[in-house]
Amino acid sequence: MGNQNNSKMYSAEITAVGMYVPEKIMDNKYMESIVDTNDEWIVTRTGIRERRLLENGATSDLAAGAAKDLFTTTDVKPEEIDVIIVATVTPDMMFPATACLVQEKIGATNAWGFDMSAACSGFLFALQTGASLIQGGQYKNVLVLGADKMSSITDYTDRNTCILFGDAGAAVLLQRTDNKELGIQNSILRIDGSGKESLNMKGGGSLNPPTHETIDNKMHYIYQDGQAVFKVAVKGMADVSAEMMEMQGLKPEDVAYLVPHQANLRIIDATARRMGLEKEKVMINIDKYGNTTAATIPLCLVEYYRDGKIKKGDNLILSAFGAGFTWGATHLVWSLD
Ligand code: UT7
Repeated sequence: MGNQNNSKMYSAEITAVGMYVPEKIMDNKYMESIVDTNDEWIVTRTGIRERRLLENGATSDLAAGAAKDLFTTTDVKPEEIDVIIVATVTPDMMFPATACLVQEKIGATNAWGFDMSAACSGFLFALQTGASLIQGGQYKNVLVLGADKMSSITDYTDRNTCILFGDAGAAVLLQRTDNKELGIQNSILRIDGSGKESLNMKGGGSLNPPTHETIDNKMHYIYQDGQAVFKVAVKGMADVSAEMMEMQGLKPEDVAYLVPHQANLRIIDATARRMGLEKEKVMINIDKYGNTTAATIPLCLVEYYRDGKIKKGDNLILSAFGAGFTWGATHLVWSLD
């Protein structure tokens, strides 16, 4: 996709944001009490200090919580939403789609919608899809949600994975604008199914419907070959982010922030180095929330915006890598003051 805005009728800009994180905190001390790990290993290898746990409820509650927070900040009413897109790998159930459950919870009585399954790249894929629905002129208001209750598919006896993940939801409202200088400018999005063995949850789908055997084999939990994913994630995220800067004619001094998926601080650092960005230009909150899959990027946007760190006109490069493999980068120009 190159210079898509020149050929579109409208641009899609973010005009409101919201987030929801559960109150319950699992810090590294707590992780030490349940598996053979330690704070030093977790912090130096990943950058994570805490993650959140949703004790009651499901992904639709995380998403609806984020949407309700968003609606407290905008004049747009739930019934004015045209489309709801929920990026998630932890849908409440196989069907109906979590988007339907969120629709009911927030009273978006005139919306249609769907779920987007692209793991840690889910928010980027959903954001570009939402933008495309607006750019052609068919829709005005698209609610894009990234939400995952990762605790529902995490094996808390597996130290390789349980220290990594947390629960959260975050939301952005995409709206139509005539000003093509604002909003989603361009995306490079990729998938490669040859990565399917390195990061997956094999049980519960049509390949391995749930049986006593799939449960005994722990196939309803996340499996990750950390080192294998690490290598391709570093290359994938760095390549695509640098390519996006080049495609958009952006120099490091033109970029206000890299907004990276928060899976591992070392992957984020490598991506920033490749883009020529200093540390101050990288959004980080992995220390507080761990890897919340589809929620990491919008959660960063909400927190940095509310802290007054992003301003209208800022060039942001959003970048992610996840299971599939899925990866990509998006150039977003921030619209909110
Ligand atoms: O978000 C979607 C995409 N996912 C990613 O981007 C994740 C990519 N991968 C990673 O971030 C890293 O590979 C991990 C953080 C998952 C692991 O870090 P690593 O530096 O690759 O560690 P490793 O898996 O190579 O393990 C090194 C050692 C092993 O011990 P031995 O075999 O060297 O004795 C592990 O058993 O660390 C051990 N280990 C732990 N030790 C203490 C693994 N997990 C832990 C733990 N605490 N929690």
